[in-house]
Amino acid sequence: MLTLKNISKIYTQGEIQYQALSDVNLDIQPRELVALCGPSGSGKSTLLNICGLLDQDYQGELCFASETMTNNRNRAMELRRSALGFVFQRFNLVPVMTAFENIAYPLQLNKVSSSDIQRRVMSLLDKVGLADHAHHYPDRLSGGQQQRVAIARALIHEPALVIADEPTASLDSVTAHQIIELMKALGRERGTTFIIASHDDRMTHHCDRVIHLEDGIIRQEMSQCAA
Ligand SMILES: Nc1ncnc2c1ncn2[C@@H]1O[C@H](COP(=O)(O)OP(=O)(O)O)[C@@H](O)[C@H]1O
Ligand SMILES: [Mg+2]
Repeated sequence: MLTLKNISKIYTQGEIQYQALSDVNLDIQPRELVALCGPSGSGKSTLLNICGLLDQDYQGELCFASETMTNNRNRAMELRRSALGFVFQRFNLVPVMTAFENIAYPLQLNKVSSSDIQRRVMSLLDKVGLADHAHHYPDRLSGGQQQRVAIARALIHEPALVIADEPTASLDSVTAHQIIELMKALGRERGTTFIIASHDDRMTHHCDRVIHLEDGIIRQEMSQCAA
């Protein structure tokens, strides 16, 4: 599904160069739920931005569904809209849009008809437990509810891969647990692949595979039975 070969990333700020990733090799299987762990500054977000085709300024080779993405910016943009979903630590909902409108947005970009949008968004709002909050604005929702909306927005267009960067870091532990369970259940149901960056141990127990990143290098890959 996603293959990274010898991926390295150097940030340049004026005269200073900083190597954020060194020779990362990864092979992510379809439907896999992968946790990317490591201390702050270890390169998790840098790696996720590359996996999510948001950053194409790196060395090495990346293939998405057997298609090489190196020097293919237009195709990467197309895939971001059709085949990828994103969840962030700070939810990143559009404040002037209701829960319904936030979730509908990726479908509008993909030119889905308004009757299909209505049906699909309401069905997913129901699955994330927020059917009766459809017309609420983000500032009227709790952190956990906002993250549920963000998860629905990431999944609504049925992407093959969802990238989640510290999705539980702004939540209390009970809510964090519910959010992880929700992502896992929806992902399994739809056959979605997830790569989730987290420095939260609670997160990793739920994943098929845990990848440890340290100073931009993969230190340890650990497979575990799907719980
Ligand atoms: N835009 C940038 N310019 C320069 N350095 C950066 C930039 N983004 C991240 N870095 C550096 O790269 C390293 C990895 O950062 P990041 O991928 O954000 O780590 P993590 O998500 O694991 O906390 C850090 O040392 C960080 O300071
Ligand atoms: Mg980060």
